[in-house]
Amino acid sequence: MNTDTSIKKRSLGQFFTRNDFWIKEHILNFIRTSGTTIAYDPFAGSGDLLKVAREMGFEKYEGLDVDSSLGWGFNDSLLNVPKISGSIIITNPPYLTNYSAKRRGIYSAVEKYFSTCDYDDLYQLAIEKCLQNDFGIIIVPETFINSGFPKNRLVSITIIEDQLFLDTENPVCVICFDNKIKPYGKIKVYKGNEFIGYLDYFEKLRRIPRRNRYIKFNSLEGQIALRAVDTTNPYKPILFMKPSEIDYDLRGIKHSSRLITLIEIGADFDLIDKIIEYSNNLLFDFRKKTRDVLLSPFKGNKKNGERRRRLDYMTARAILEDAYDLASNSAKTNLL
Ligand SMILES: C[S@@+](CC[C@H](N)C(=O)[O-])C[C@H]1O[C@@H](n2cnc3c(N)ncnc32)[C@H](O)[C@@H]1O
Repeated sequence: MNTDTSIKKRSLGQFFTRNDFWIKEHILNFIRTSGTTIAYDPFAGSGDLLKVAREMGFEKYEGLDVDSSLGWGFNDSLLNVPKISGSIIITNPPYLTNYSAKRRGIYSAVEKYFSTCDYDDLYQLAIEKCLQNDFGIIIVPETFINSGFPKNRLVSITIIEDQLFLDTENPVCVICFDNKIKPYGKIKVYKGNEFIGYLDYFEKLRRIPRRNRYIKFNSLEGQIALRAVDTTNPYKPILFMKPSEIDYDLRGIKHSSRLITLIEIGADFDLIDKIIEYSNNLLFDFRKKTRDVLLSPFKGNKKNGERRRRLDYMTARAILEDAYDLASNSAKTNLL
């Protein structure tokens, strides 16, 4: 049921950031080298991020919020974030997709924001407004990495696998930005404390299908089953397999299924096993090279603490196309 409190909590994204394990050494270094003296949260909420910033020795703290009951100066930061010179934004803005606002019946509370932009989530509008400041650190959904949002102002992206919020399991990353436009080859990507590569390295590994084969997802006629999401068991990851091997009633597959699917592919029956084998090899290699950065995060972690991932069907299609080529080439070689 939508009570007044739950409408407010959802439409204003009032999930507070009580944990501080998002502060990694390289993020602290970024704050130090920025030379800023004011910590500034334009979505200040209960002030949790500013409280963490207190331990970092800033000279001043500034908070704003649209909810006057929280005791900050009033500002609608999804319309405008006033620039404060000498400050660094440290914030966790509201997250709310257009789709989810409609589904929860709270769209009218946020329509004025979505009507000003083409973004599908409020956090992206919040980033755009925060970029009016010279420096900032913003905690955003990890799906940001795969979004088309321009990333040239970023200094780094840090994937945080530990669970950050007390009351939501939203997978997040931390983006740091300064006032300089940079090529993606200069933007660092971290997993926790570990530097894993520059953004252009990951962008080059993105898989785009050629659409040169008949491949249909969510087809009850499919010859290949795909568990498109990691289970919590690290030994049962995303996998292509024969339909008889999947522990799921495939009659439940619908047009909209995103986690388990049956794939129909225009290939001879005797190629299917090889296509499955090559698809799994290519996927394994892709995950290793990309460190999973290009796969969508899925709520909750595996039992070993790593984030669960989902294989989107565009990447799956590109993998299947290559697997098809490898399987048919190896079949031809065997005939010679
Ligand atoms: C996710 S909470 C984060 C609070 C704080 N940064 C933290 O992590 O503890 C988002 C906050 O943004 C505020 N907010 C939502 N929409 C806003 C808007 N348009 N302008 C300013 N603040 C807004 C909410 O009231 C809420 O306090």
